[in-house]
Amino acid sequence: MTIPRGTCLAFLYNPDMQILTFVRQTLGHDDSGHDEAHVLRVLELARTIQGKEGGDLPYIEGCALLHDCLDSKLGLDNASQEEAVYECLTQNGYSAEKARRMIVTMRRMSFHLHDEEALTIEDKVVRDADRLDAMGRVGAKRALDYGKSRNRPVISPDNRIEIEMGLIPSGESTVAHFYEKLLILDHHLYTDTAKAMAVPLKEELILCLKELYAEEGLVLDEDTLPR
Ligand code: ADP
Ligand code: NI
Repeated sequence: MTIPRGTCLAFLYNPDMQILTFVRQTLGHDDSGHDEAHVLRVLELARTIQGKEGGDLPYIEGCALLHDCLDSKLGLDNASQEEAVYECLTQNGYSAEKARRMIVTMRRMSFHLHDEEALTIEDKVVRDADRLDAMGRVGAKRALDYGKSRNRPVISPDNRIEIEMGLIPSGESTVAHFYEKLLILDHHLYTDTAKAMAVPLKEELILCLKELYAEEGLVLDEDTLPR
């Protein structure tokens, strides 16, 4: 395990990495793309982005590690869970005031693409990291896993017509999710660093999409791809 870079307060104060233990206990085994591996990738992505863009590193690391512990999709968006996350942070060296602000950042990380409010640099870095992990081969695999966990078809025969008409129903198939969200995520990033990192990841997503079509004996019409 190569997690501790030594800056996250939890790692400075706790060789046992108590935050990660809390994350493991909270997420348990999840087959819908919210697991420890995702959290650790988001941590690394966030560190890389922070290295170029700045922001409070321990704050960003704590949010990256704990963000899915408040996810509404996992039923974790309740007051007692928020209190548990708060306790975890304050027991690991974060001040009460900082822990409260971090919870606000994590709550704002929802995957919905509504970006109206003013965000801090820390908000932007952790959001970008979470979004980048939904792109590339890894993001495609997560979407397939999510679709499988919800018994969704990978591709529905109607997709292509729906796409051309701009009428893809939400959640219809995993391929619909590519069009609705994954292929437009590059337009919903905040930092220049993340935008640059997204370029090859979007190409990977398109390759994966072509493979999914090919597996069904279909050919992807590249004119349907959002650019
Ligand atoms: P995160 O926890 O990273 O904020 P989400 O909770 O929205 O993201 O989704 C977790 C993963 O599941 C992501 O990789 C996302 O692309 C995927 N996912 C979410 N909704 C769907 C869907 N309807 N079909 C396929 N994949 C989905
Ligand atoms: Ni996430």
